[in-house]
Amino acid sequence: MKPGIIIYKSIYGATEAYAKMLALRTGYDLLPVKEAGDVPLEEYEHILYGGGVYAGQIIGIEYLKRHWNVLEGKKVLVFAVGASAFSPAVYDALREKNLRGRLENLPLCYCRGRWNVEKMTWMDRLLCRRMEKTAVSDPSTDPWQAALREAAGRAMDWVDEKELGPILMILGFDAPAAAKEAASPEE
Ligand SMILES: Cc1cc2nc3c(=O)[nH]c(=O)nc-3n(C[C@H](O)[C@H](O)[C@H](O)COP(=O)(O)O)c2cc1C
Repeated sequence: MKPGIIIYKSIYGATEAYAKMLALRTGYDLLPVKEAGDVPLEEYEHILYGGGVYAGQIIGIEYLKRHWNVLEGKKVLVFAVGASAFSPAVYDALREKNLRGRLENLPLCYCRGRWNVEKMTWMDRLLCRRMEKTAVSDPSTDPWQAALREAAGRAMDWVDEKELGPILMILGFDAPAAAKEAASPEE
């Protein structure tokens, strides 16, 4: 049995960056979801799925549903990568929208990604500039609106290895030092 595989879908590179960092730390295999169709998942002990968050959806997560007959009973973990800062509300909304039915009990982790309107496709650029404008002129406490305000008019890159702490801890690996300190501040 191989120890694990990380399968991911990333449009602007943040999920891919996290997936690569995870692969380095764990030694697990790594594949973009578009190349993972024929992977013998039954040969792996841990299966990680990572996807960017677009309009609240973890992209590509259908892969897990399509392969559920092999995945049932295995150690499967999902990580989502979005621009919003982590909060319980962000986490709950992601669970609610993406981990339904058979996926309901899977562990979910969240990492903060990146935002650069200049590097987006013209369609995304149009949409995201409009969303930034709305967020700036109509401030709300919603974390997604707050992220849009924070990023409005500039590029943001929140990708940080420390964000992987919870995932590595769940998998039984040493977390990056700063994440360990945050988890046990009394030490
Ligand atoms: C059209 C669009 C919609 C997005 N929707 C959300 C969202 O609902 N929530 C969020 O936190 N981030 C959202 N984002 C930000 C992305 O999740 C963020 O850029 C992340 O880094 C994407 O992962 P990737 O770089 O691996 O593609 C959106 C970005 C775009 C371009």
